[in-house]
Amino acid sequence: MRDYEPYYTEDGSIGLYSYGDKDVFHSKFGALTEAWEKFVIPSKIDELLTWQEEINVLDICYGIGYNTKALMTFVIENNKNKIYKKNIFQKIFNFLMSIVSIDSDNIQKKKKKKISIYNEAIHNNKFSDKDFLPKIYIDCLDINEELIKLSPLFKTVKTPAEYFSYILPDIFDCFKFYYKLQNVFVNIFGVFSPKNKKNITELLELKFKNMHIDKEYKVNPIVNYILINRVSEIYGKEYLTKDIKNILREKWTRRFFAKSLIKYAKFNQFWGYRKTSGGIISTFLHNIYYLYLSKRYKNIKFKAAESLFEIKFHLNDARKSIQKIDKQYDCIFLDAFTYTKAPQLWSVEFIAELYKRLKDNGVLMTYSNSAQIRNTFLENNFYVGKIFNEKYQKFVGTIASKDKSKIEYPLNNYEIGLCNTKAGIPYHDPNLAFSAKDIMELREYEFRHSELMSSSKYMKYRSIRSDDNEV
Ligand SMILES: C[S@@+](CC[C@H](N)C(=O)[O-])C[C@H]1O[C@@H](n2cnc3c(N)ncnc32)[C@H](O)[C@@H]1O
Repeated sequence: MRDYEPYYTEDGSIGLYSYGDKDVFHSKFGALTEAWEKFVIPSKIDELLTWQEEINVLDICYGIGYNTKALMTFVIENNKNKIYKKNIFQKIFNFLMSIVSIDSDNIQKKKKKKISIYNEAIHNNKFSDKDFLPKIYIDCLDINEELIKLSPLFKTVKTPAEYFSYILPDIFDCFKFYYKLQNVFVNIFGVFSPKNKKNITELLELKFKNMHIDKEYKVNPIVNYILINRVSEIYGKEYLTKDIKNILREKWTRRFFAKSLIKYAKFNQFWGYRKTSGGIISTFLHNIYYLYLSKRYKNIKFKAAESLFEIKFHLNDARKSIQKIDKQYDCIFLDAFTYTKAPQLWSVEFIAELYKRLKDNGVLMTYSNSAQIRNTFLENNFYVGKIFNEKYQKFVGTIASKDKSKIEYPLNNYEIGLCNTKAGIPYHDPNLAFSAKDIMELREYEFRHSELMSSSKYMKYRSIRSDDNEV
């Protein structure tokens, strides 16, 4: 049996369950949504795009790549005008649309409502209008080669808005009734999307349903093509191994993969994506070639986006990979398995390695809200804060930086106090080579001999006070 099993998360993106770790790789509420809300949005990469010469990102625990894919999608989707030069027909169409101002105020309002805080900032021209984008270097660390190879092939289901545009093509989207109908359609569709599934068995059983992914969070298809090319460059003929082909073909897992991408990967493996046309005979090959590889396609859509990113995969235990990296990052995504099951990437010593590799004004994000992990950052002299989710009005993770001004929602006195209880005792991994069991036993020993107050006692006696937010 394979080590993991795919399932649909509630936003329609694919999640994986690992039998080995008895843990899910992705939040059941939405793998892609999590990538956006806990990593991409808090990274404030939009601001960096406006003034930096280059941007360096470290994606620790790449897995099937949602965090990297979400970041790339964000950059492409919000900078289309800079990446793709408009052709003459688009210019004429835009011009005509601007003079046929059918309820244009209303349209603008509706559009604004749909866009995220990021897009809003960009639409409002809050940031400078530099007409080139910096190169984005992404270092992706993971221990599992199979996942890296499979990562571009997972599909996400269509959004309700995409289904709608089949019924009424996008060309009508300048009319008021288009939005009204779309709203009704999306709401009805939403009723059928699976909500609050209770456990992993139910998730694994989940068949294709109408999921409710936010349109702006969907992976841009070009992102997957860029990743396939990168993976093929690295692994060459080894890319689609027998094991991977079996996973892609298996009846149970087939529905989680995008057929067109698999065809492209096969084609790519056979011909090499830089190869030119000679000798392509069947219509099938010709179509793929024309669609994804021809000079015309590459020039207009693909090449421009591809040249923005330089992605490097580091296949090894992240504790080893990090020691070989001699560079500093603007953003670090730390998406390791939960610390109670896999402590290796949560120790004071590992986080110290990250401290060294974070720029003075860089930010490190993780989904964990625990006092222990926050204390591990504090012990490494980071300023530590919470990641606030505007949509759900709640804190969804932790952000750390060497620059105090990067922390919008600092830990309050109560939370800092909690870090100083036994619950905050961090893991240690002195030479970055201990086994999970040894790391946990070491902490257990420290815990038993510690004179710190227990967290339950702290919570019982220390109620939240009005001065708690004055840090
Ligand atoms: C929670 S999942 C990350 C999900 C991922 N960000 C994604 O978008 O799919 C944890 C990942 O950590 C990887 N991993 C576990 N231990 C590791 C280690 N010591 N070094 C590097 N990667 C590790 C696993 O292979 C898995 O892909």
